[in-house]
Amino acid sequence: MAKVTKYIGLSLGADICWPLCFEAIMKQLDLSIKVGKNQFSFEVERVSIEPYNLRQGCKYSVVLDRLTHWYHTSREWIKKSVIMDDLYVLNNPWAVQSMEKQTTYCAMMRLGLPIPDTWMIPPKAYDRTDDLEPTLKRYAKLFDLGSIGEDLGYPHFMKPYDGGGWRGVSRIDNEEQLRSSYEESGKFIMHVQKAVNPFESFVRCIGLGPQVKMLDYDPSAPLHARYQPGPANITEADRKRLRAITLIINSFFAWDFNSCESLSQNGEWYPIDFANPCPDSQVTSLNWHFPWIVKANIRWAVYVAATGRKIRMNQNWKPYFDIAAQDMSYEEKLEAYEALADKHFETKKFEVFCEKHLSELDQITWEFFGTDYAHDAVRQKVIALFPAHEVEQFTAYFWKRIQEWRAWDQEERAKK
Ligand SMILES: Nc1ncnc2c1ncn2[C@@H]1O[C@H](COP(=O)(O)OP(=O)(O)O)[C@@H](O)[C@H]1O
Ligand SMILES: [Mg+2]
Repeated sequence: MAKVTKYIGLSLGADICWPLCFEAIMKQLDLSIKVGKNQFSFEVERVSIEPYNLRQGCKYSVVLDRLTHWYHTSREWIKKSVIMDDLYVLNNPWAVQSMEKQTTYCAMMRLGLPIPDTWMIPPKAYDRTDDLEPTLKRYAKLFDLGSIGEDLGYPHFMKPYDGGGWRGVSRIDNEEQLRSSYEESGKFIMHVQKAVNPFESFVRCIGLGPQVKMLDYDPSAPLHARYQPGPANITEADRKRLRAITLIINSFFAWDFNSCESLSQNGEWYPIDFANPCPDSQVTSLNWHFPWIVKANIRWAVYVAATGRKIRMNQNWKPYFDIAAQDMSYEEKLEAYEALADKHFETKKFEVFCEKHLSELDQITWEFFGTDYAHDAVRQKVIALFPAHEVEQFTAYFWKRIQEWRAWDQEERAKK
């Protein structure tokens, strides 16, 4: 039997809290996992930023990446490591680079998901370039924004076609607002999208490999209180539907880690924002749910490293489009897409693996989140985000939420 060390890399940006927890719990677990002829142990390291030779090898089996959507030195290092060394990275960097919100809307429309009607409108302002004037003179048609508003109906939302982080999002209640928001939109390329209004529930689903977490979301609350503590208050049928939608989107785009916002109206779930392949992982927003993200990262990273799961380098959309073209109901299609997603994420194999090799994770995580070390990790994130005079108050707030989770978690596990 060969003893092999597997390296898990953390490619981090402003992340503070979850890596500290990830590292500490991995240390505590001190895993030694036998797969085939090998006995694997695991080392967690932070990936540094430095010059590299393109032929230089890569020691990591898995990299959890939070950086490359905006930091291109690391993005190119990751791409080279995938191509040359079979690095497995959350997420596939090409799949992040090439997918805007609009592409994801279109693909899911083709699969039959109820994406609200959406129009793309040309930008109001441009950077001056040599070819701008002749191009616009020849091809830019005058259009009547009012008739697009009428087509969609009110209210609707104006937001960038490649959005993220609520940048440039406005709710439009009438034609006057539509015209003034467009005037203010500048160089953004905008969508106007029919509102799901009124809605019954707003749930954000986080998918990490085959794991899906559903969180009630209150978009009108301040940032630190948008995710509601506790399991999402939805039916089993809703859970089943949202799980399918989340895993279908993530497997279709070859994203291991992504979040999907859906609103329900008259019992149907409408996904409205699901191109988020670097989802929020901070205690300062996830609060009660924060320990889940740490555990989910550990489970999937260890599974991938120990089993040698291969990254999907290219997307394969045809099997999905073949199902979409068949004469089947929406429910039947979802079931067929979901089966593709479960196959892609090796759901069954993953569950068996976790039961066999990670059975101590729940208890160790529960204990960890009662320690001073965990408290300090929360505090460090709060210091980075809040003004000095609010540090004590918000550290206590997030810590209380985590202790509420611990009480709930203990009860849940006692039931089993
Ligand atoms: N079609 C819609 N119906 C209802 N609410 C919407 C719709 N589109 C956007 N919103 C609201 O605006 C917020 C931001 O829009 P979203 O598409 O999520 O942009 P971002 O990518 O910036 O997060 C959503 O969280 C939701 O509250
Ligand atoms: Mg959003």
